[in-house]
Amino acid sequence: MINNIKGTKDILPNESQLWQYVENKIHNFFKLFGYSEIRTPKFEDTKLFNRSIGEDTDIVSKEMYSWIDQGGNNLTLKPEVTASVVRSIIQHKLNYSNKINKLYYIDSLFRRERPQKGRFRQFEQFGIEAIGSDYPEQDVEVISMAYYFYKEMGLDNLKLKINSIGSKETRIKYKKALHEFLFDEQDKLTDTSKKRLISNPMRILDTKVDFEIEIIKDAPHIIDYLSPDEKEHFQKILNYLDQLNINYVIDNMLVRGLDYYSKTVFEIQSDLLGAQSALCGGGRYDYLIEELGGKPTPAIGFAAGIERLIIALNDNFKIPEKHSDIYIVSIGEKAIEKSIEIAKNLRCRKNLSVITDNLRQSMKSQMKEANKLNVQQTIIIGEEEIKNNKLIIKDMKSGDQEEIDCDKVETYFK
Ligand code: HAM
Repeated sequence: MINNIKGTKDILPNESQLWQYVENKIHNFFKLFGYSEIRTPKFEDTKLFNRSIGEDTDIVSKEMYSWIDQGGNNLTLKPEVTASVVRSIIQHKLNYSNKINKLYYIDSLFRRERPQKGRFRQFEQFGIEAIGSDYPEQDVEVISMAYYFYKEMGLDNLKLKINSIGSKETRIKYKKALHEFLFDEQDKLTDTSKKRLISNPMRILDTKVDFEIEIIKDAPHIIDYLSPDEKEHFQKILNYLDQLNINYVIDNMLVRGLDYYSKTVFEIQSDLLGAQSALCGGGRYDYLIEELGGKPTPAIGFAAGIERLIIALNDNFKIPEKHSDIYIVSIGEKAIEKSIEIAKNLRCRKNLSVITDNLRQSMKSQMKEANKLNVQQTIIIGEEEIKNNKLIIKDMKSGDQEEIDCDKVETYFK
């Protein structure tokens, strides 16, 4: 027997209804804010991710599914969407044709992480990217969209963590201070952090190792190194969040696990998730478009795991059940022929969902199945009905039956 690959999952019919419900909500919700859908390929040139996410990050250094194809191209299954969106914006010059591009997506992503609750090797994300504005109101629009979306889905106890990691210049100053702070502690660091102390000490703030968390507790805060403009930008965002009554905590250790961020970074967490507590994360990436060869354009976005949303919604979340409208019970060859024709007409012309029996079951078994499927009505066509060119319509709730002429069936269902 061949099973699915570790870290992937099947979404079976009993779960797919909830997935469809969530996906519809995403489409409708983001359109309310004027965002349009973008779809990018499932794989890209590996260079795109190396250059945007950063060689030092966990994603690029150990989690990407990359391979050389038959033509010698180095390709990677997309581990995140932002880099692809930026590539697409540059390639199609969308930042020339539109002053601002407001985009959303739903996509499948691939990271070779250690699977656990809420962490998969293939997972689904939805997210948005607002490309073109460097004003704080754009930051607040993006952050509040994430926050309101979860509220709309009925989630409470959301924890919004926010930080500013400033511009490149700010980070040069800060990294120096952080390096000085960590230098004396370097013997206690893990081998990965020792390497990062040289290449990018801010990555160490992202550590999940307990004794390292203890060490960095007293590290300097980047917020204290922001320029006056960056401080003002950050303060404006906090003011707008206050105005919207959105609670937040400033988290000085929040730097996010991807290298392209500048200024604002944020995450929304839920205590319903366990260890993988981040529902979503995002931030500004004002340099990325330029770094990938486009004209300098400020941008901000976030992305969110759909599996984690589904876990947070949990088993108690009930979506309105949608059942089929009609089940056609047919007995005998001629009745089967008739049922195929009636089903087609009711589906195409009356937009009704119709199920036919394709197992040639007994009348009793077909009625039992119709009951189980919770349809509203059954159409019964037996040998007698075929002879008389009639059929029976049974209302499954009241049990009432009515005999009508076969050719009146479409007009019967208004
Ligand atoms: P990220 O923090 O890597 O950011 O991922 C965003 C969200 O995707 C996480 O908060 C989590 O809900 C979900 N996620 C990540 N990895 C996994 C996994 N292995 N299994 C299940 N869910 C997972 C980004 O991807 C950035 N592109 C976000 C962004 C958009 N920044 C600016 N624009």
